[in-house]
Amino acid sequence: MKIAVIQGPNLNMLGIREQHIYGGITLEQIHAQLQNAADQNGIELEFFQSNFEGEIVDRVQECLGTVDGIMINPAAYSHTSIAIRDAIAAVNMPVVEVHISNIYRREEFRQKSVTAGASTGVITGFGGFGYHMGLIALMQMIGELRA
Ligand code: DQA
Repeated sequence: MKIAVIQGPNLNMLGIREQHIYGGITLEQIHAQLQNAADQNGIELEFFQSNFEGEIVDRVQECLGTVDGIMINPAAYSHTSIAIRDAIAAVNMPVVEVHISNIYRREEFRQKSVTAGASTGVITGFGGFGYHMGLIALMQMIGELRA
């Protein structure tokens, strides 16, 4: 089983940006923890991060026929990008949207995710651990949850 992990704009700045909101963990550390959990379950991960909307659309499209599920944090594009939403809807596979912060506790403009409506489910507010939760959710959906 293969999962694409797609990270949106400014997530490459984790560990530096707004630590009071996102904590001190870096994207590399999140990915290392996730890789560890995936290895223990025989899951293959493909990591991708971009600050460009079109590149994220391209990456989601490439998932068709190449992976079994997607874990995506569209970051700020969650609140604006109908293009990413449409790409998620087009590939028609299990998709977990993850947010590190609880978007419902934040500014009003963050409380609506337009991409979430095309995803299978959303995990928000559990920090870097949300990606671990997302992995378990995808394993459950794809039918490879052994625990
Ligand atoms: C975020 C929440 C977004 O509102 C914000 O623009 C981000 C990160 C999160 O993971 O909490 O960049 O997606």
